[in-house]
Amino acid sequence: MIKKAVIPAAGYGTRFLPITKALPKELLPIIDHPTIEYIVNEAIESGITDILLIVSSNKNAIIDYFDYNLELETILLSKNKYEEYGIIRNIAKGANIHYIRQREQLGLGHAVLQAEAFVGNEPFAVLLGDDMYVGKPEPAMKQLMDAYEKVQSTVLGTIEVELKDTSKYGICIPKPDQKGPIVELKGVVEKPKVEEAPSRSAIGGRYILTPGIFSYLKNQTRGAGNEIQLTDAILRLMGTEKVFSYDITGKRYDVGNKMDYIEAILDFGLQKNEMKDELQKLINKKAK
Ligand code: G1P
Repeated sequence: MIKKAVIPAAGYGTRFLPITKALPKELLPIIDHPTIEYIVNEAIESGITDILLIVSSNKNAIIDYFDYNLELETILLSKNKYEEYGIIRNIAKGANIHYIRQREQLGLGHAVLQAEAFVGNEPFAVLLGDDMYVGKPEPAMKQLMDAYEKVQSTVLGTIEVELKDTSKYGICIPKPDQKGPIVELKGVVEKPKVEEAPSRSAIGGRYILTPGIFSYLKNQTRGAGNEIQLTDAILRLMGTEKVFSYDITGKRYDVGNKMDYIEAILDFGLQKNEMKDELQKLINKKAK
């Protein structure tokens, strides 16, 4: 069983400047909960018990968010605001949250390498904060875990993207003649040129990795964007272990993209009993 997850949260959030100058992008709210809380909850709902957040020097607000705030709790209780108290007390309930600071931002591969001591010698999950899923029928990470149970090897959660978007992702090269949703890979390439994209199967920010990845991350040279890429280390891992892709089912939001972010806010708002009717009216009014 996979019990540990790693969530890299040390990036600069340049797509959302200037707000990310002062607010970590992981705390951008979907109405009243930050995006990273949805990622943490997906991990917990999938059965993860220990989550390592990889943060950086200007991300202390994330640590505060997942901590108790005893002063605020006392104030809420003294004002009989029990519902609000319950909401803040139950954030990330069910998992231990651990932190480590990535001292320099050298890329996703370098971020994941920071998790080596935490992970030890067992397979582990990686969830990227820009990719939010409403997995159907199961949370996206649970789907990957079930795939892992079948293949007992590294599994990359994938989504199908448009050809023009392939240059934004890690793109999978399947071995020939295979039927999904679990497919063995013969290669993977980080952010290929559109005209060189080997497929439209993109890594969608979810991974189950074996601890074998760390020996490759340690001496991984810089790749796309002059960064130490996780994808490049996974390609080398394929020399010694099988690597599979699994097509995630459900709805994905790239919350680092402004339109997807707004869509997530609307969709989640339409799920909230206290506001769904008024929000629907507002949407109808604006559509006219
Ligand atoms: C990262 C990974 C890439 C993956 C993507 C998913 O890229 O390097 O392989 O497809 O996340 O969102 P980034 O978006 O951080 O540049």
